[in-house]
Amino acid sequence: MTISITQQQRQQLINAAMTARQLAYAPYSAKSVGAALMTADGIIYTGCNIENAALSPGLCAERVAMAKAISAGERLFIAIAICGGPLDAPAVPEELFYPCGVCRQMLAEFCSGEMIVICASDEQHYQQLTLAELLPYPYPPDNH
Ligand code: THU
Repeated sequence: MTISITQQQRQQLINAAMTARQLAYAPYSAKSVGAALMTADGIIYTGCNIENAALSPGLCAERVAMAKAISAGERLFIAIAICGGPLDAPAVPEELFYPCGVCRQMLAEFCSGEMIVICASDEQHYQQLTLAELLPYPYPPDNH
């Protein structure tokens, strides 16, 4: 099944990711990232990166958004937007943030390869990919 979203939904997602980014806790990298995840029903769950002094407990924005949605009972997702940049400053148009490998694998647990991934610095500057393009050979979950 091919997933598509409207231009309005893409703009909604990018704006939500940009807003979520403002809440990042990122004193170590000084990079703030926001993610906005859309369910099949059009509900948006957001997340920001949450770093930690011990480094490895840190969470990426994508996994925070996923955890919020999954723990609210959501299971079907169609798109996620990611916006990152220097802490307390606008994103740089040429510097898109792509999901890390761990986040790609977490997305693959719940989302099909058709899932839309939008890496954006603002509404005008973005790259729209599919999860399969980002992670062509996921470690396969049982559910699809
Ligand atoms: N980060 C995310 O939150 N999402 C990404 O897609 C890439 C990286 C975070 C992790 C860390 O807090 C900071 O960005 C710098 O790597």
